Amino acid sequence: MSRQFFVGGNWKMNPVSREEKKALVNTLNSADLDPATEVVIAPPSLYILPLKDTLKNNIQVSAQNCYEKPKGAFTGEIRRVAPQLADAGIPYVILGHSERRKEFKESDELVAGKTKAALESKLKVILCVGEDKDQREAGETAAVVNRQLQAVVNVLTPGDWSQIVIAYEPVWAIGTGIVATPEQAQEAHADIRAFLKRQVSPEVAEKTRIIYGGSVSANNCNNLATLPDVDGFLVGGASLTAQFVDIINSKR
Ligand code: G3P
Repeated sequence: MSRQFFVGGNWKMNPVSREEKKALVNTLNSADLDPATEVVIAPPSLYILPLKDTLKNNIQVSAQNCYEKPKGAFTGEIRRVAPQLADAGIPYVILGHSERRKEFKESDELVAGKTKAALESKLKVILCVGEDKDQREAGETAAVVNRQLQAVVNVLTPGDWSQIVIAYEPVWAIGTGIVATPEQAQEAHADIRAFLKRQVSPEVAEKTRIIYGGSVSANNCNNLATLPDVDGFLVGGASLTAQFVDIINSKR
């Protein structure tokens, strides 16, 4: 079974100026991108709608988060609620990013609840999981990732998984320039697939895309892209540069 390669650009809170944003959009719109790869850009909240209208080349947009409630009076809250994103035609939302788990104390259960709410609103979810440095050194990688995933398994039906892309993002690799080795990435991705097979179904395990994130660059993407259980990338820093085009095309 072949899974469509997926490359996401997580812009986090960048770029700061509209000029830089425009330059990035021009680069992406004029690039020769592999049509076989699904490409999604997750810009800061302020830019989601303008980007949805200006990106070409079949590039889709994603929110970086959504509010956990379906609606309500929350003056000043910048996160959009899931039904609002769906109504605006935004297809994806990133949930469970380690920066949210750590800086904003998002628990496994909160991430699972938001995932469920997003799916109920017909959004697709890029669900991030991953261990930190201490956990890896303690040999707890699989246990941590399984715990994060189990919370989501507990609230979804097997059919829901067709709307989920799992992003394995080891925290120690994010923004550090220390990318997982091909062996580390393949092992973690294979463990996630084995977990899905045990806890959901062999079919879901086979079909679910598991992408890698953490210091992906034009220099290391080709090696990682050939691994059997790596179905794409979630890219931070390098998605703000022209090398993102090479990363999108890494499967070509
Ligand atoms: O979500 C992508 C991200 O956390 C990875 O960031 O800068 O290491 O590619 P970066």
